[in-house]
Amino acid sequence: MRWPKGLPGLCYGGDYNPEQWPAEVWPTDVELMRRARVNLVTVGVFAWSRLEPQPGRYDFDWLDRVLDLLHDGGIRVALATPTASPPPWFSLRHPDALPVTADGVRLSHGSRDTYCASAPAYRTAAREIAAALADRYRDHPALALWHVHNEYGSTCHCEHVAVAFRSWLRARYGDLDRLNEAWTGSFWSQHYSGWEQIRPPRATRYLGNPSQLLDFRRFVSDELLEAYVEQRDLLRAATPDVPVTTNYVLGGWVPVDHARWSAEVDLVAIDHYPAEAGPGAEEQTGFAADLARSWARHGQRTGRAGRTASGATNRDTSGGPAWLLMESAPNLILTPGRMHAKEPGRMTRHSLAHVARGSRGAMFFQWRASRGGAEVFHSALLPHAGPDSRAFREAVSLGALLDRLSEVDAGTVRASVAVAWDVSSWWAMQATVLPSAQLDYLAEVSAAHRALGRAGHPVDFVTDGDDLFGYALLVLPALYLVSDRYASRIRDYVAAGGHLLVSYFSGIADEHARVRVGGYPGALRDLLGIRVEEFHPLDPATRLPLSDGSTGRLWAETVRLTGATPSVSYLGGLLDGQPALTRHGYGDGVAWYLSTRLDDDPYRDLLARLAETAGAAPTCPAAPAGVEAVRRSTAETSWLFLLNHTDSPQAVPVSGVDLLTGAHVDIVRLPAGGCAVLRED
Ligand code: GAL
Repeated sequence: MRWPKGLPGLCYGGDYNPEQWPAEVWPTDVELMRRARVNLVTVGVFAWSRLEPQPGRYDFDWLDRVLDLLHDGGIRVALATPTASPPPWFSLRHPDALPVTADGVRLSHGSRDTYCASAPAYRTAAREIAAALADRYRDHPALALWHVHNEYGSTCHCEHVAVAFRSWLRARYGDLDRLNEAWTGSFWSQHYSGWEQIRPPRATRYLGNPSQLLDFRRFVSDELLEAYVEQRDLLRAATPDVPVTTNYVLGGWVPVDHARWSAEVDLVAIDHYPAEAGPGAEEQTGFAADLARSWARHGQRTGRAGRTASGATNRDTSGGPAWLLMESAPNLILTPGRMHAKEPGRMTRHSLAHVARGSRGAMFFQWRASRGGAEVFHSALLPHAGPDSRAFREAVSLGALLDRLSEVDAGTVRASVAVAWDVSSWWAMQATVLPSAQLDYLAEVSAAHRALGRAGHPVDFVTDGDDLFGYALLVLPALYLVSDRYASRIRDYVAAGGHLLVSYFSGIADEHARVRVGGYPGALRDLLGIRVEEFHPLDPATRLPLSDGSTGRLWAETVRLTGATPSVSYLGGLLDGQPALTRHGYGDGVAWYLSTRLDDDPYRDLLARLAETAGAAPTCPAAPAGVEAVRRSTAETSWLFLLNHTDSPQAVPVSGVDLLTGAHVDIVRLPAGGCAVLRED
């Protein structure tokens, strides 16, 4: 079965909001979509007030017409449930379903995402509108995919949430003694003697309890997941063969545990908006795409992702776990204070970077630029300037390009290097006062991914519960929380011959964010053959010279050897002669420990060396710096994506059929900012 149902190749399109336009515009939209070879659009994401203008009174006529027009134009629909933005009448009728901030302020209607997911009235209304849509469109031939809600992530601190949080905690801990123990209740007199005393973490006089904050984040993720699953189940019951998904929000604030959610979606869908305008945007793109593929794989193993209703996995007809870039910005990078127009070709390169890593296409926010509303200056495939524009011409050429690449959909990305991804560590690091304000989970994981990417290695992310044994090298950056079970799985991996690099601030605490005493990193001391006595957070400007000529920054430690051998040492100062990088043979494998932050180049060199020793090969050693090379393959065929992120022409000596031109080549010549996809010889 093709995925989503009935799509012939890679998906191309985006959010389509016809409710913002007079009906006369719709046929033009369809005509222009056809010109751009758009084959999938997401409809209805924020259309609740138009679909249900008054309680229980639905107006589907306009949507009928839109879906019919799209169907007649050969365009499939990801039909959204509009539950991320309840209509004004709902909020007025159910003020208790408006969210309350941590400061105790109840928010008002007037934007989006203004609801409390634990409020019974909201949940009922959400189920009802989803059921009404399912009922109306279950047999509509345009329906390819259900798109539930939009970017689940809203939090609330009201009384409904207090009730739900307590019941989540009861299920997790069973009794209050265990909860008090897990939350270190004896610190600052926070010992609870009755469940009703526990509240969502509201504003407090001083620092909150980090274990409570961490559990609240876990609760919010589970509570929102429950809201999604309610809708999914009723959509699935109405249309068992139509896959159901929801789009994940990505960035510095991650409200849900995506790996866990991925067991409950049929297709992992991510929205990705890089937050840097410079070359960092390309590295953030690769990072997001590798995460999405890894979550999809995790979900495929632990749940339903990639399965059809009949139970067959998408591997039947396509490579790898199912995931899709559901939203990205066509011609825009948003950084604080400024919108940067993407240079010509950059939208195409970003899209191909996702497809190269397994995305089933490239979708955008949005099709037609809005003429009013809060996001009026957000870019679109069809800009305010209309079809006679550079941006629309690039949209048309991207559609044609994706059309020519459809065969790559069979291939999957194979990585021999994995980086640990752990949302609990991230949440816990956001919940407490760390020894250095510079310590940032996302920055640590990104640095490892970036270094491996620059060394030319494809990377999978692994979450607790994933199979580690297939990887030659595993990197644990800032894996702050490690449960006993996870620690023993990591030990087993190394004992069986795996190569491991652990970086500072890993293995420090248990799953409740309680430090493991006796020397850091408590969970991994024996495996690493070291004992860390003290942290030395560094001033941002400080550079510590190291014995191999590189420098350490941000962080240093007093590392005692208990079996490991020093590989690189600190030079001068307080830590003179003490180990910065250590190596410990363990069973059939090797465990390395890095106690400081290296600059990007030495980090890349270190990881390249470790990967080589571990037996992992880079994708395309012939690719020059600045040319990204990513491979998708089946047992018989492989496709090499080459993306030139530099502003000069580049040549790569590889041979195969260039899918863009159909010609056989022995050397790929990429114009500045250009791309090529090769079916390799
Ligand atoms: C996404 C959201 C879209 C739109 C877009 C703007 O996060 O899902 O609805 O707001 O951002 O970049």
